[in-house]
Amino acid sequence: MQYGYFDDDAREYVITRPDTPYPWINYLGCENFYGLFSNTSGGYCFYQDARMLRLTRYRYNNVPTDSGGRYFYLRDGADVWTPSWMPMKSKLDRYECRHGLGYSRISSGRNGLAFTQTSFVPLGDNCEIHKIVLSNGSKADKDIDIFSFIEFCLWNAFDDMTNFQRNYSIGEVEVEGSRIYHKTEYRERRNHYAVWAVNVPVAGFDTDRETFLGLYNGHDHPETVFAGKANNSIASGWAPIGSHHIKMHLAPNESRAMIFVLGYCENPVEKKWEPNAALGVINKAPANALLEKYSSPEAADKALAALNEYWKTLLGRFTVDAEDKRMARMAGVWNQYQCMVTFNMSRSASYFESGIGRGMGFRDSNQDLLGFVHLVPERARARILDIAATQFPDGSAYHQYQPLTKRGNNEVGSGFNDDPLWLICGVAAYIKETGDYGILEEMVPFDSNDDLADSLFVHLQRSFDYTLTHTGPHGLPLIGRADWNDCLNLNCFSATPGESFQTTANYESGVAESVLIAAIFAFVGPDYAEICRRTGRLEEAEAADKAVVAMVETINKHGWDGEWFLRAYDAYGKKIGSRECGDGQIFIESNGFAVMAGIGLKDGRAKKALDSVKERLDTQYGIVLQQPAYREYHLELGEISSYPPGYKENAGIFCHNNPWVTIAETRLGRGTRAFETYAKICPAYREDDSLRRLEPYVYAQMIAGKDAKRFGEAKNSWLTGTAAWTFVSISHYILGIRPEYDGLRIDPCIPAAMKGFSVTRHFRNAVYRIVVDNTAGVEKGVKSVALDGKPLNLFGDGALLPDLDDGKVHEVTVVMG
Ligand code: GLC
Ligand code: GLC
Repeated sequence: MQYGYFDDDAREYVITRPDTPYPWINYLGCENFYGLFSNTSGGYCFYQDARMLRLTRYRYNNVPTDSGGRYFYLRDGADVWTPSWMPMKSKLDRYECRHGLGYSRISSGRNGLAFTQTSFVPLGDNCEIHKIVLSNGSKADKDIDIFSFIEFCLWNAFDDMTNFQRNYSIGEVEVEGSRIYHKTEYRERRNHYAVWAVNVPVAGFDTDRETFLGLYNGHDHPETVFAGKANNSIASGWAPIGSHHIKMHLAPNESRAMIFVLGYCENPVEKKWEPNAALGVINKAPANALLEKYSSPEAADKALAALNEYWKTLLGRFTVDAEDKRMARMAGVWNQYQCMVTFNMSRSASYFESGIGRGMGFRDSNQDLLGFVHLVPERARARILDIAATQFPDGSAYHQYQPLTKRGNNEVGSGFNDDPLWLICGVAAYIKETGDYGILEEMVPFDSNDDLADSLFVHLQRSFDYTLTHTGPHGLPLIGRADWNDCLNLNCFSATPGESFQTTANYESGVAESVLIAAIFAFVGPDYAEICRRTGRLEEAEAADKAVVAMVETINKHGWDGEWFLRAYDAYGKKIGSRECGDGQIFIESNGFAVMAGIGLKDGRAKKALDSVKERLDTQYGIVLQQPAYREYHLELGEISSYPPGYKENAGIFCHNNPWVTIAETRLGRGTRAFETYAKICPAYREDDSLRRLEPYVYAQMIAGKDAKRFGEAKNSWLTGTAAWTFVSISHYILGIRPEYDGLRIDPCIPAAMKGFSVTRHFRNAVYRIVVDNTAGVEKGVKSVALDGKPLNLFGDGALLPDLDDGKVHEVTVVMG
């Protein structure tokens, strides 16, 4: 079934019917103010932190799904309808939703009345803009009533959905003309309020939900709209909302535009009130300035044009052209867009993450950098320093931290023994992209304590050493609470319902070991050694090299199962991911990572491991996490065995680790197979497959595996490490354009049938326009490279374009063969 199509020129996904198999959303905002926006205008917005500073209310797991958003009700004579389809599910003569980069546009029509809503967050301001245009395409005059509707959240989203005994009494608003102010808790400890305004005069307004809807009505039947007249209600407690009532006369062919702004405003404490504080009138200066700025359609259009320009420039840093348009649009546009979103949100707010739970993940955010650092390196730099500041002096780390306070999150604590290594991974990626070794000398606190500050380099050193000093009986790294796989909880032993598998550690085994952490060590260790070498720490470099060699030996000795790499040893020292096991005989993670690290490339183990992955784990929709799926709960394994077979970490297609296999395949030079693993989880290749259900323009965390009843169905779109890793796999390894310390490596590994492609890559201070010719039909191998017409010496795999640093555009022609 077709629900839409990619408009590549406009860089938009065009949804052509509103009843998509799940709400298909977009993100507005890329700085401090964010909105989640579905194809039927559902969603909510917040300032900086989706839990602490949420402007509008949203009910997850609601019926009907996705109810609540920024709604506009139209009353055309006696005909009442909602042009975004929801919440009334109005029959529309036409409907289209275009999700673009940082904006969305819904257009629809009924009975000769045409509606467009263009929604976005402008650069530099903390607000959502909704530009509404109504046009009368009929032959008769029309008198239209427009009612806007949003529901305010009382700021702290968790409290808002739990603490009703208090919340039903605290709601407060002010109204001034066409401007509705939400000021709950402003009188006491808050110095911020929200404003919901429109740039035209209103006939009336409502701010009390019950008055507007009617107590027993849903969003689909607001009493006020059907009555055709606002009540001018002023909320006092209960549920404050913002609704404008606008009357509009439209002659045939006449169009009118209105600008709605939903903004977040802050005042300095001493300037909170209009002169007489006792009157409780808020100081509206910041709102006035904001609304003044966006008071005309032209101003809104200009802000949207600036946003478009911003994205054009950003995505101009890496563009792809190829015969395979699905790959080209994903790698060139949508995958990078998703990388920006994951960088901004971490795992906090999506339609699968409530925005009240998780903060920024230490491991997640370091990985998110990998797909983002080429876009805005300065922001990646700042993020690295934030993350590193939540590390403990012994090298371990808080697993999560809160974006507002930037302090580690005590509820989750530390003990995830893979965390420290991801910091090395993130910093190495940053240095390769930028050449900025200066970051290593930045002074960074440990445990957010300035007294404990040391250079970022020392943080890396502690990360590296932490792994080496926390090993188990086989010399492999101890797993702690979990490694990358949050659900492999080998020291947990939880038999109590409701206990967290991640934070309950009932068992201090000092025995359970992770082959995956060993493989991550083997992957990032050489970068650590290189960073030491390049900053003159030669002894340290040599010691690091030796430690990596020793770790690889340990993996080969204790981490090899005959046909593939083992996954772990449990708290009793028993193997996980071995032929000897009943269920869970082979896992994807350790195999992908070990081969990515280059283990077994010479002795045939790498090939064997990947062949085993293909034979035992591959499916038509991607590679499952392990096989056979656990059928019973294993106390000694934890959450992984708690999921029904085929879902999530229990043998779901956990997309995040599929690109590890893709990259590993390129290390073997198997370009056709690498691309096959890439394409299977890539959403654009399943665009019209409604079984997948989720947005065809973004990756999902998980697709149900072959053991699941709903095999092939995706869940948890948007906020997943899949975004960064697939971008790395396609851009660095398949197309093979990879930043290294001294330049840009050109080393494609593509399907033999791919005749070539071209990429424009900004790298440090130069632009490289790279055209790759594969008429020879090989999978890997570079025969010649010319830079601005002059042949370049080949060395290593492929060629290395020097860091030209001249601000110019350079033409690069590559012939494979
Ligand atoms: C989720 C977590 C990530 C973890 C993965 C596997 O995506 O955000 O940290 O590595 O699940 O459990
Ligand atoms: C839950 C999820 C898992 C995720 C973890 C992070 O365990 O099932 O996928 O990684 O939470 O906290």
